[in-house]
Amino acid sequence: MAVFKRLLLYMKPYWWRIVLAALASSAYGGLDAAFAYMVEPLLKKIFVTNDVFIFSILPLAIILIFVFRGICRYLNDYFMRTAAQLAVQDVRNEIFRKNIVLDLNFFHRNQTGSLMSRIVNDVAMMQDGVGGIVTGLFRDAIGLVSLIGVIFYRDWHLAIISILVIPLSIYPAQYLGKKIKLNARKGQEEAGDFANILQESLSGIKVVKAFSLEKIMVDQFVRANRMYYEFVRKLIKYSSLSSPIMEVITSLGIAAVVFFGGSKVMANTLTAPEFFSFITAMALVYSPLKKLIAAYSEAQRCLGASERVFEIIDARSEIIDAPDGKTLTRDDNRVEFKDVCFKYQDDYVLKDVCLVAEKGQMVALVGPSGGGKSTLVSLIARFFDTNSGQVQIGPHDIRDISKASLMGNIALVDQETVLFHDTVANNIRYGKPGATDDEIMAAAQAAYAHDFIMEMPDGYGTSIGDRGVRLSGGQRQRICIARAILKNAPILILDEATSALDTESEQMVQKALDNLMQDRTTFVIAHRLSTVLHADKIIVLENGQVVECGTHQGLLQNNGLYSRLCSQQFRNEK
Ligand SMILES: Nc1ncnc2c1ncn2[C@@H]1O[C@H](COP(=O)(O)OP(=O)(O)OP(=O)(O)O)[C@@H](O)[C@H]1O
Ligand SMILES: [Mg+2]
Repeated sequence: MAVFKRLLLYMKPYWWRIVLAALASSAYGGLDAAFAYMVEPLLKKIFVTNDVFIFSILPLAIILIFVFRGICRYLNDYFMRTAAQLAVQDVRNEIFRKNIVLDLNFFHRNQTGSLMSRIVNDVAMMQDGVGGIVTGLFRDAIGLVSLIGVIFYRDWHLAIISILVIPLSIYPAQYLGKKIKLNARKGQEEAGDFANILQESLSGIKVVKAFSLEKIMVDQFVRANRMYYEFVRKLIKYSSLSSPIMEVITSLGIAAVVFFGGSKVMANTLTAPEFFSFITAMALVYSPLKKLIAAYSEAQRCLGASERVFEIIDARSEIIDAPDGKTLTRDDNRVEFKDVCFKYQDDYVLKDVCLVAEKGQMVALVGPSGGGKSTLVSLIARFFDTNSGQVQIGPHDIRDISKASLMGNIALVDQETVLFHDTVANNIRYGKPGATDDEIMAAAQAAYAHDFIMEMPDGYGTSIGDRGVRLSGGQRQRICIARAILKNAPILILDEATSALDTESEQMVQKALDNLMQDRTTFVIAHRLSTVLHADKIIVLENGQVVECGTHQGLLQNNGLYSRLCSQQFRNEK
């Protein structure tokens, strides 16, 4: 019921469409009752009193009634369905708006494919249901009530006999409804699973080809699809059962009425036209009743899908933006980690990390793969909150800083180079929305990206990303660097930002980055140690702990992990 109420709340802004649809459908539903009622006087006039006038206008009246009925039906359908569409459009916007601001943990817990499936499939299922529920409520409920009025008016004894079967239909309808809802929900979960397989194999198509995984992927997909079918089959089974069961139950009512009504006509306590009027009303009663029950099972499917959609709308970020968050100034770029411990799941990935990056310093993070370097810098951007200890920027704990201000002060070039399906210029412009073309070009020049961009078919207007021109790894990195340069934030984080470049362009980009690092606090993660020789501070992370800290010279004299890493690398290079 709570889910249903919530669903109706989404319809509220479109109330006038619903009122129009309801008026049209009341007319439509009421017309059936009027028609059934008219059977008696008409039959009497034509066959008993032989009224020729009535007889001659009857065909015209029938056509007019159906034209009017058609118009009502059209208005009802049009306004009801557009109202449902608009409401569901709001749901879809809201789910995406709420979804995209959730913290990274949420996206690690939920696979992309199943999230997409909720936004696309479940919302579509909601859409099918919403219109049906409301139409059912108005047209069929009004039709049902007015027709029941007619049968009671004609003969209340017979009426009671005929509607005795209605309570009989309640239990099966409820039972089927429950089954339908359960299987709809499970089916949608399964649809999420195969959306995941689809998403992973398509975005990783190169690996699929390189390792000839086509068959394995297809098998997985076929299996998930078959599981989906199992639930849909049950769904079909229960929803197809509802009509036949209803018909059998109503046949009991019809049989009883024919028997008792027929005896009354033979005993002359009921006239034949009255009996026909009664039978017409009764035959018409069962149609809205059946439709109401079908709408009920449609509603159950819709509620199953709505629950899944509302779950995401209700998901809350674990990372909470401070309500009266502090604003950073450009000068706040001293970063300090105080006894920071952090874990993703069970094992600590960072243990008691203490470090200070003074204003304008360049701090390098080095160490073996999986040591926790990327995790450490992601805490500065507050992608995750620490489990204990704190991260400070300037004088503030980062949990007290407003998210917008925090993100405004940090520029990140990540290990994964993400470009969107858009032009080169716009991809760079994401660093500073509203930047002019000149600013973009200057940033690209600083990142040594200008030359290769000019060689592309449409220069800065060339489409890149998923469906656009394919770029090399190094070219992608340079566009990401240009984006960060354009952002011009006082704290810069470079996670393997130049790892895909050849030595020559790396040196050039490095020069640009060195310029950029002036007056900025910079965290640089690098496996190639030659790029961090001149760092103010080099921090060696191993298994989540700071094992060494100092300058290049100092660490070499220490003869620890850093000097071992150095001698290995420089030996290899020689
Ligand atoms: N989202 C995540 N959920 C769970 N564990 C994670 C997640 N991301 C990283 N880890 C784990 O945390 C540890 C540190 O990972 P991190 O990415 O910080 O290492 P890294 O030092 O950046 O390594 P690399 O040099 O290879 O980039 C690893 O053991 C990794 O398995
Ligand atoms: Mg990393």
